[in-house]
Order: sequence, then C-alpha cells, then structure tokens
Amino acid sequence: MGSEPRVLMVASEGMPFVKTGGLADVVGALPKALAALGVDVRVMLPKHQQVKEQYQDVLDTVATATVHLGWREKYLGVQRLSHEGVEYYFIDNEDYFSGPVYRGGDLENEQYLFFCKAVCEALSHIDFAPDVLHLNDWHTGMIPMLLKTQYQSEAARTLFTIHNIQFQGKMGFPVMRDMLSIPDYYYTPEYVEADGCANMMKAALVFCDKISTVSPNYAHEIMNAYFGLGMEGILSARAHDVVGILNGIDMDEFDPAFEKGLAAQFSECDLRGKQSCKRALRAQFSLGGSPHAPIIAMVSRLTRQKGFDLVRYAMEELLTTADVRFVLLGSGDKEYEDFFNYIAGKYPGRAGTYIGYDEGLAHQIYAGADFFLMPSQFEPCGLAQMIAQRYGTLPIVRETGGLVDTVAPYNRFTGEGTGFGFATFNAHDMMAAVRLALAVYQDKATMRKLRRNAMGLDNSFEKSAEQYRALFRSMV
Ligand code: ADP
Ligand code: GLC
Repeated sequence: MGSEPRVLMVASEGMPFVKTGGLADVVGALPKALAALGVDVRVMLPKHQQVKEQYQDVLDTVATATVHLGWREKYLGVQRLSHEGVEYYFIDNEDYFSGPVYRGGDLENEQYLFFCKAVCEALSHIDFAPDVLHLNDWHTGMIPMLLKTQYQSEAARTLFTIHNIQFQGKMGFPVMRDMLSIPDYYYTPEYVEADGCANMMKAALVFCDKISTVSPNYAHEIMNAYFGLGMEGILSARAHDVVGILNGIDMDEFDPAFEKGLAAQFSECDLRGKQSCKRALRAQFSLGGSPHAPIIAMVSRLTRQKGFDLVRYAMEELLTTADVRFVLLGSGDKEYEDFFNYIAGKYPGRAGTYIGYDEGLAHQIYAGADFFLMPSQFEPCGLAQMIAQRYGTLPIVRETGGLVDTVAPYNRFTGEGTGFGFATFNAHDMMAAVRLALAVYQDKATMRKLRRNAMGLDNSFEKSAEQYRALFRSMV
C-alpha cells in the first residue's frame, strides 16, 4: 500500500468547538484516532457562533469568496485552526451561523443548503486536496450531488455516514431548486424526491460512493421500513456499498482515573473513589434516605427516540415501589421537561432533575450513578451507554441498534455481562430489566464484577479507525 489517503471530514458540529449530541463526540474523537494511524485527516465545520471564544480568537482566515445561491450572493470566509494535531477549517457566514446550530424548519434547510455549496466552493481555496470526503448526516447531503453534477468533480470520492436516519433534511423542492439551481428533472424518486419532498439524505444516498452507519446492527436495521424511515429502498438497492462501523468514545475525555472535575478519581482496580462521586451526586441533587440506595441516571436529549414514553409511564411505579434514587440531566421536548420537573417536585429526595445542557455535570452523573437508563426506541449507535460503562455505571438498555453491539446484557446463568437489556419496546419489559438490575445491586460481588467488566471494555475509537482507514483505502 502506498501513502495514506487524505481525508476531509465534514459535519455540522464537532468537539471541542460545538456540540449538541453524539455526532460532535464522533467528529471530535475519530480524526484524532485516524491521525494516530497516520491518516492525513482534516475537518470542516460551520463556524457557529457557539464555537468557544478561546478558539474564535485564534482562527486564521485562509480565503474569502462569494457563494452564488440562485439569485443570492453570499459571503464565504474559510478559516483555519490547528488543534491537537488535527487541522480544522471553518465555514464563516454570519447570516447562517449566528443563531442556533439547528434553526428548525426551512431556515435550517437553508443553513445547510448553503453549507453544502460553501464546502464545495471552499475546496478550491484550501491547500489540501482530499482523496475522500467523509460526509456526516443530512447537513452535508447535497455535497456528492453538487460535486458530480455542477462541479464535474470526481477528484474526491465520497463516504456518507448516517448518524441518525430520522433527520433527513426534507423540504419543498422549490427551496432546494432556488438555493442550489437543481434542475427539475432531478425531482424524481431516482434522485432527490422521497415521499413528496425534496430530501437531502436521499440525495446523499443516491450520489455518494460509499455509505456507512455507526453500528453493524443499525446497518441491518435500516434496510427495513420500521428503521429505514423511507430510505430502506435505496439502502437495500445499494446494500453492497453499505457498512456499519461502530463508534467509539474519547477515552481521554472520559476518564475517571484522571478527571479533576470529579469528587474523587477511581479506576477498574480501585473503585473506592466512585463512592465519593456518589456522595457528591446525592448532595448535588439533594437526595435523601440511605446513602446506599442505588442511583439510576439518565443524561440525554429529551426526545421520543430515547424511550422517554416508557420512562414516563413507569416512573412513579419505580419511585414508589423500590428503594431507588433517580437523576436526570437533559433538555429537549417540553412535554418531557415538564414531566421531569413535576417528578422532582413531587418526589423530593428521591428524584432530581436538571433541565439544561452541562458537560461537567454530565461527567459527575456518569461517575456517581450506579445504573444508566437508556430505553431507546431506536439507537444508531449511542455513546452515552459506552461513556457510562467507562465509569463503571451499568447501562440498562433496550436491545436495539448500537446498544446491541455495545452492551452484553447480564446473564443470570453465567453471571456475566456489561449491563442489562430488554428486547421489546414496552414499559413492563423495561421495568423487569430495572428490577433485575436492582436485585443484582444487592449482590456486592456480582455488582463489582459487572462494573469491572464494563470498565475493562475497550470503547476507544482505535479499532473502528482502522476499519475507516481500510474503507478509505478501498475507495481511492
Ligand atoms: P445522541 O447523539 O442521539 O444524542 P449519543 O448517546 O450518541 O446520543 O450521544 C449523546 C452525547 O451527548 C453524550 O456525550 C451525552 O453525554 C451528551 N449529552 C446529552 N445530553 C446532554 C446534556 N443535557 N448535558 C450534557 N451532555 C449531554
Ligand atoms: C446520533 C445517534 C446516536 C449516535 C450519534 C453519533 O445522534 O442518535 O445513536 O451515537 O449520532 O454517531
């Protein structure tokens, strides 16, 4: 094999600059792991106003240009920053990136239609000629089509990674046509049309060279309609181009043995510090009763995907029939925010709620809890359960998507496992798994073993980065 492929990873968010969910974790961790393998990988992101000030101040402007979007002429700034051995490019335009990361509705569609066009333009302004463009989620979906149909460019191959097929970038065709000058004849089911809308993810799946998703199990699931949400046809037709590569986590960012923000440090070999973290968590959420009562935690976007309908159904039964404490950190749909505020008000000392987004608190919860509840309806990969395992906090998951690939449910016959699982999306089945976890909690030796199993897992990006590298190599 000759030299390593040059890869430009493109996404809407990425750590440590801006994060709303797991996509940012992956865009933060994967390039570092690829760079460690010798891959020349760079990253291109929108310069959201949320990019932390410490980075905004040290950006170098590489180029300024104009992007034509139909009749509009829009400013494009390309800025650059080197961080922990990886080069980052930022697409600067305040009209589109001075508000929320995701504006919702057609404003959001316009944000990312612009982003796709701006990335294509920026390619001729940077001193880096990628062999592969690694595109992530629908926000980058028009790039393969633009390159092939408007830039006549086959110079770079395209890998499109699906992080969540629920979000597809759907809009009326006139919006897409007016912004990107897409001719009417592409508005058919063979190209960008799906279910009566223009669809950016569909365009990506049609025009990209290879498709990946973030766990092997989800790669199978999305071939059928329940999970594929309208994309199962094109995915099945291109099944030989589809691969599932499991996400990892940044093992340095999440490391209970070294983190200064925790009440105490702990490791697989010495779990004593975890007790101090639990005490701190109990104080933080004013939890009462026995200090030994198990704590079940959730850290999540508050959205239907994450199984909150089951949690809502079973929460009061759980709090009134078991000696357990419950802690939630999250933000999102108002109906769930209201519910968890109500629960915290009704059961003070037993349940604690923090509505918001707080990375430091998230680490403290992962470290201080005993169990991490994640009863997802669907889950492309899921990072939170892997993060929980890293802190010896046993995940209780619905066996779907990447949760199947990352959690070995406790088996009462062998006494082994790295968490707990249930198969059917049903509150009673979830409660059975929770009760099993609470029963095992009483058995200190088994609990210690399961915690160690979980903490001993290699959830790093190393193995997956090798799979990405092999895929990139096969594409050039
Ligand atoms: P998704 O990307 O679908 O939201 P993942 O499990 O892949 O789910 O990733 C979620 C990431 O976002 C994890 O790093 C988790 O800790 C973090 N996270 C979610 N909600 C919050 C919050 N309210 N505060 C801090 N971190 C959060
Ligand atoms: C999406 C998915 C989540 C996955 C993350 C990173 O947000 O919902 O399951 O872990 O992307 O790939």
